[in-house]
Amino acid sequence: MSTLCEVSSTETMQRAKYGDDYKQDFDPEVYLEMYYTDLKGQTSEGDMLETSMLFWHETFAQGNITGHRLLDIGTGPTIHTVISASNCCDTIHLSEFAPQNRETLRKWLEGTLQHSFKSFFQYVVDREGKGELSSAREAMLKDKIVGIFPLDLLQAEPLLPSLFPTFDIITSSLCIEAAAPDLAGYEIIARRVGKLLKEGGHIALFGVLGESFYQVGSHTFYCLKISGEQVQDIWKRSGFKIVGWKQKSSLGHDASLSDFEGVFHMVAQKSL
Ligand SMILES: C[S@@+](CC[C@H](N)C(=O)[O-])C[C@H]1O[C@@H](n2cnc3c(N)ncnc32)[C@H](O)[C@@H]1O
Repeated sequence: MSTLCEVSSTETMQRAKYGDDYKQDFDPEVYLEMYYTDLKGQTSEGDMLETSMLFWHETFAQGNITGHRLLDIGTGPTIHTVISASNCCDTIHLSEFAPQNRETLRKWLEGTLQHSFKSFFQYVVDREGKGELSSAREAMLKDKIVGIFPLDLLQAEPLLPSLFPTFDIITSSLCIEAAAPDLAGYEIIARRVGKLLKEGGHIALFGVLGESFYQVGSHTFYCLKISGEQVQDIWKRSGFKIVGWKQKSSLGHDASLSDFEGVFHMVAQKSL
């Protein structure tokens, strides 16, 4: 089912892509080129990418979020979300809605992807300061990945096959607000995601605040406009204790590519 959503912030009302549109219109190569070319050189999203990488580093460098099994939700065509986390778990499950993004992740795993994530690995090993080579870290991450699984957060059983044991850690970046049709739908998704996590397990989220759209090439994709307070209230109501929260106003990003007002990082623990 493809739902059409109205993007209200543009002068001319446009129909934004959502749901099944991702399968035809989300081009992984274009997305990577627009947003993930190079950590330092990238400017279209202002300092969003570095903010995100610093969050992933700080979340996992402290060593208090550890566990055997990690699930990344809505990985897209990029693995920057799990580089820091790869030190803190034994196995990593990647999950993604669009088949072409899963194929892109597969190519990266096999070493045939044109796009390079070297600057992201370099950032992480430099921050950790243990003299690890970025290439060794990339190999270590690949070793820990057990699979790339289909995921649809709009289904009651989002992760297929649905027989997975619960995870110790869940990570996710810029996905739930792209998948949720409205605030009530966000809460339904939060509860579904919660069921995939062990009691006492942690979720680490990176997301956008107040965004109604983002561009991938010529296609405009829908995003749920949500405030920091709304995000926190929903996760608390869904059985989580928020143990880390930071938000930051957006600085200097290209407003024709997305209209986010800020970004947030959240770490929350599923109640025992
Ligand atoms: C903006 S991209 C984020 C990708 C990546 N995690 C990142 O940080 O760049 C939004 C992601 O949400 C996923 N998505 C859209 N609808 C979804 C759904 N119903 N269930 C799960 N994921 C969905 C898309 O396939 C896409 O990977």
